[in-house]
Amino acid sequence: MDTLVLPEEVTQRSREARAKGRRIGFVPTMGYLHEGHLSLVRAARTQTDLCVVSIYVNPTQFGPDEDLEAYPRHMGRDSLLLEKEGVDILFAPSDDAMYPGSDLTRVRVNRITEGLCGAFRPVHFEGVCTIVAKLFHVVEPDVAYFGQKDFQQAVVLRTMARDLLMPIEVRALPTVREEDGLAMSSRNAYLDEEERKAALSLLKALKRGKTLVEEGEKDPEKILLAVRRVLESEPLVGPTDYVEMVNPDTLETLTKPVTLPALLAIAAYVGRARLIDNLYLAKE
Ligand code: PAJ
Repeated sequence: MDTLVLPEEVTQRSREARAKGRRIGFVPTMGYLHEGHLSLVRAARTQTDLCVVSIYVNPTQFGPDEDLEAYPRHMGRDSLLLEKEGVDILFAPSDDAMYPGSDLTRVRVNRITEGLCGAFRPVHFEGVCTIVAKLFHVVEPDVAYFGQKDFQQAVVLRTMARDLLMPIEVRALPTVREEDGLAMSSRNAYLDEEERKAALSLLKALKRGKTLVEEGEKDPEKILLAVRRVLESEPLVGPTDYVEMVNPDTLETLTKPVTLPALLAIAAYVGRARLIDNLYLAKE
């Protein structure tokens, strides 16, 4: 594996590979890697010919009161993990490389960024779209891999790529969970032992909603109320940013009677960790 810090070196390598007829797979990350990230890396490795992974903690997607400084970092460990997976190129740029010059430009996707996490993190998706657009320009991938754990992010980035005529396929892969069901996240590092146990109630709450849907409940208010009750029964969980049921394509809030497919999604604080999780409720 080659670790590159200069954007132009990555572009050059990508173009050389493409000239030889190779397909380029790209996995953007902020590091502190876990099995969720590695599942995307494995997909890129098996489905494309040149596997590029980026590690960059992007400052513009964090709000002023968010955890940019505290965000966990461990480049040495990450690098070993990626090497073991057979990654070809690790791109680990500096802030100056990714934000040169005047920094007056932002990429904004409208409407689908207004709900869910966008409603609580006003600059977040603008920061995500801006950095991913830059990374796409640097890497020039054929396929880019994202996790359904950040479902809204994947929908927003797929929309961005299409709207900006980027010839890049955005693939979203299933959430990887710990054995007990907790969705893997770099932010789980913030949890102490008690909070770690309490964090399980996010999935428990989502499953309660799923069961109600399976039993034929069609009123989203009733479903969401039951989901909230599960969260409220765990004293270490709270406040809750949102509990929502949306159309997975448009991300619009579902109204009565609920139709499938649907996405049931939660964002809630456990201690200082803001955790998100979701369940995709398929048609049949
Ligand atoms: P990060 O949180 O590091 O996540 C990188 C990728 O890993 C994202 O596509 C995310 O959805 C995926 N991922 C995280 N946890 C996962 C899990 N448990 N199972 C499967 N996939 C998982 O998301 C970002 O970084 C940034 O916003 C980024 C896109 C890199 C832009 O800065």
